[in-house]
Amino acid sequence: MSAAPELRIMNDSGELAHEAAELFGWLGQQAIASEGSFRVALPGGSTPEALYRTLAGAEFAGMLDWGRVRFFFGDERCVPPDHRDSNFAMVHECLLNPLKIQAERVFRMRGEDSQPERAAREYEDQLRQEFGTPPPAWPRFDLILLGLGEDGHTASLFPETQALGERTRLVVANEAPRGVTPRLTLTVPTINHAKAICFLVTGNSKADMVRTVLEGRDQDTRSVPAKLIKPENGRLIWFMDPAAASELTIAKQGIVSHEE
Ligand code: 6PG
Repeated sequence: MSAAPELRIMNDSGELAHEAAELFGWLGQQAIASEGSFRVALPGGSTPEALYRTLAGAEFAGMLDWGRVRFFFGDERCVPPDHRDSNFAMVHECLLNPLKIQAERVFRMRGEDSQPERAAREYEDQLRQEFGTPPPAWPRFDLILLGLGEDGHTASLFPETQALGERTRLVVANEAPRGVTPRLTLTVPTINHAKAICFLVTGNSKADMVRTVLEGRDQDTRSVPAKLIKPENGRLIWFMDPAAASELTIAKQGIVSHEE
């Protein structure tokens, strides 16, 4: 039974980045204390940049034994790792390079591979090896961070695409409707096996979709992929600013108390 989502509505995007960094640190400390490592999958896009820069900043740089953090990716565009559209390139610039994270602790999806399906299978093999989970076991990330597209996509799980129905593979190639179309993405079950899943969503442009995902009824999940994200046995947390949360019932009825 999937736990109800925890909704955290911050006063602004800066506070959201700070609170998300606090949660990242707390989950990291717990994982390192109990497992000896913290394995996290990161998204691309613009929203998480502020979190990455906050984590790399002076306040948080000493928060974790970064040498025990292992960095993975929730999805990647099929471009070289130094391309301006590469999720790895953005994470490297905002987080990995400032924290001097050693390459052996960064597990990059090979977006540069001319055969995305081959890159997907290679990443899947890497995950199974890193987590020690041969089929039919599932790797359990300590934390998977996600963004939300205005069309309801998350990671590179886009509406009405092949990847949404995948229930066996850990990683697949998929197609985005625009922009850098060939993508690599974790599948829904891989995400849902995480111990903690955290959406980071800001801005008015996401408000309608946030309401659809969190309060919509009977939607065809193929048209709203983010509704498929339900942890099997873990936490689901939504960090939002007031603009992204503005169409939620709790916001309209003034119930929500922004976290201080
Ligand atoms: C990507 C991301 C994607 C992103 C959403 C939201 O590769 O772009 O993984 O799923 O999280 O598109 O992006 P923003 O945070 O830029 O709104």
